[in-house]
Amino acid sequence: MSEDFDKAMDELQASVIEDARKIYSEKVIERWLNPKYMGEMENPQGYGKVTGTCGDTVQIFLRADNNKIIDARFITDGCATTIAAGCMACELAMGKPLKEAFKITKDIILEELGGLPEESIHCALLASDTLKAALNDYIQSKNDPWRKLYKKHEGDGKMRGLV
Ligand code: FES
Repeated sequence: MSEDFDKAMDELQASVIEDARKIYSEKVIERWLNPKYMGEMENPQGYGKVTGTCGDTVQIFLRADNNKIIDARFITDGCATTIAAGCMACELAMGKPLKEAFKITKDIILEELGGLPEESIHCALLASDTLKAALNDYIQSKNDPWRKLYKKHEGDGKMRGLV
């Protein structure tokens, strides 16, 4: 009984992934199924949280050293493409000087993902807006020790991985 159930679930998952492959690039599928940079960060130096027009939210956490990003993580309650875009935003930011990280736009994320269908383009915008919010927060915190002292991120633990 449980073996049958497991088999049915595996088949269902395989068919969802197969359908997704008809719509999305392999880079999107890879990051959706294995989002390397997904996860909350304790005491981030920069934190951004943005909710898009669709109602989905992305949160990005940053750490930097010598004005270079040394760690970037994200969480989201959004769809597969939001997961892929959030992951790509963090991936692109890793190791970049802050100045360069500010140049990571929606279009760069889209290009690196191998494109997204028209209706999912806003997911890349949400990821780039959140990255900018986290970068701005990092800069403001650096210049204002009081802000750093009282800053708390609002992660509610409800964000999920795969949809
Ligand atoms: Fe809302 Fe992807 S559908 S961000």
